[in-house]
Amino acid sequence: MELKKSKTYENLKKAFIAECAARTRYEFVEYGQRMAGYEGLATITDKIAYQEFNHARMLYTHIEDANKQTIVNEQIKVDLPFRQKWDLVENLKLTAEDEEEEAKFYQKAFKIATEEGFPEIAGLFDMIRKVELKHKKIFTYLYEKMKDKKLFNSDKEKEWCCPSCGHTVKASTAPEKCPLCMAKRETFCITLPKDLCIL
Ligand SMILES: [Fe+2]
Ligand SMILES: [Fe+2]
Repeated sequence: MELKKSKTYENLKKAFIAECAARTRYEFVEYGQRMAGYEGLATITDKIAYQEFNHARMLYTHIEDANKQTIVNEQIKVDLPFRQKWDLVENLKLTAEDEEEEAKFYQKAFKIATEEGFPEIAGLFDMIRKVELKHKKIFTYLYEKMKDKKLFNSDKEKEWCCPSCGHTVKASTAPEKCPLCMAKRETFCITLPKDLCIL
């Protein structure tokens, strides 16, 4: 089957647009976090937004291939969420839900690409799906922590790093202010659990 005439081609276009939109929505979320002083949190969100960009980049290369490198104007009909606003806690919950939806889309797209005989694209869909599920877990983790006001609390002593000056403090709770540069607690770096690490 010719890629350009396949459902997989439609899915590549839909996925590309969805990734571009997700990246921008996450940058909104990141912007809100940074404006509120949560620099460490914003760094994680920014990294995830960058990963969405790279998903879009790889999907784009397959769209280019189908068009033999010639970029054409095409109509794309795709359902997109527009939900994130200014509530820092709620944004994390909505974003985790969006990741879940994206993973469901990739699951279907993988199946169709396999059936249509495009194993390389199916493999890409499957790898992206796994990342979206990881993103979902990260946003869920951060949501729970923010909701319970425990973003800067740990069960045991750990190193808290100040992103402003690089000073580290060993404690179960991040200091109210960095003893070296006086930066506020909200700015401190957040360490994700090992299996969710993306930085
Ligand atoms: Fe993505
Ligand atoms: Fe994602």
